[in-house]
Order: sequence, then C-alpha cells, then structure tokens
Amino acid sequence: MGSSLRCWLANPVKTLRGADIQPGQTVLEVGCGTGFFTIPAAQLIGNQGCLVAMDPLSGYIERVSQKVQAADLENVRVVKRDALDTGLDAASIDVALLFGVIPFPSLPLSRLLPEMHRVLKPEGSLAVWLFPSPAWVPKSILRSGLFTYISKRNGVYNYKRC
Ligand SMILES: C[S@@+](CC[C@H](N)C(=O)[O-])C[C@H]1O[C@@H](n2cnc3c(N)ncnc32)[C@H](O)[C@@H]1O
Repeated sequence: MGSSLRCWLANPVKTLRGADIQPGQTVLEVGCGTGFFTIPAAQLIGNQGCLVAMDPLSGYIERVSQKVQAADLENVRVVKRDALDTGLDAASIDVALLFGVIPFPSLPLSRLLPEMHRVLKPEGSLAVWLFPSPAWVPKSILRSGLFTYISKRNGVYNYKRC
C-alpha cells in the first residue's frame, strides 16, 4: 500500500506513541519492511537514542537505508538479519517493536518471543501492533510466560519482560 495513503489511514506516529518509546532509548524494530515506522520511530527516539531496524530482505534494507540517509538520521542502524537470531547483545534493548509482523510464517512466536526476551533489558518492554488482529496472538504471548500484559494504547499491546 502506498505510504501516503497508509499514513492517512493509520498515522504511524500515533501508533508508535502507543508503544511509549522515549527519547534516548534503544529500540529494536523487527521486520522494518519499507520503513513505514522506521523514520518516525527514529525521530521520536532522538539523537541520544538508537533504532535498530531489522529485516532479512536485501531490497527492504536498501530502501530503508536510502530513506534514513535522505532524512539525515544518524541514530538508525539498518541491519539485514533474521529476528529469530538477532545477533544483538543480551539485555541491550529498551523496547522491541513487533509492528505489522506477526503472525507471519517466518516469525514463529515459539522462537521469536524467547529471542525478544533475551535481547530486552530486565525492565524492557515488547510492543505489538497487529494487522490483522487475531485474538490468539495476545493469548499466545501471555501463555509463553515470558511477558506480562501492561496496556493497550492506540491499538498497540504493551508487555513487560518477566
Ligand atoms: C507485512 S511486512 C511489515 C513491514 C513493516 N513492519 C510495516 O508494518 O510496514 C513483514 C516484514 O517482516 C519481515 N520478516 C519476515 N520474516 C522475518 C524474520 N524472520 N526476521 C525479521 N523480519 C522478518 C519481512 O521481510 C517484512 O518486511
């Protein structure tokens, strides 16, 4: 879907505010795709923070890298990697964003959630925006025993790392 039409239908800043990301935080964006959320997320985090925008597909990585360069942002690391094995340090991330990426066949929760739990700081949070929004996903996240529910804001489910 074209980015401007999508922005009109669903404002990415409003959705990101539902994840309560703060200036200075280190945020992981899983499956950045064409970067619909990447630039506004980096702007919310600011120069003192860092956004790791991750996707396994080269085409998306190139496209997002160009967008980051065009926006003159220095706080984004665009990483070509599978989020099931991020390669990130344990306890290094304040907020992990799963925006528009689950359910997805190549991101099984049984493997994705333990990796998110590993990379999040003890006080870190997982923010999930679902499209479509199947009821079993929030239930599966709770059933994993790795996260507890905090809130749902602007359509974003927020969980605390256990
Ligand atoms: C439906 S798109 C959503 C893209 C973006 N989050 C958005 O909302 O516009 C799903 C994205 O997840 C990525 N993806 C799929 N499997 C992945 C994996 N194992 N690790 C990281 N990203 C993955 C895809 O390449 C794709 O960019």
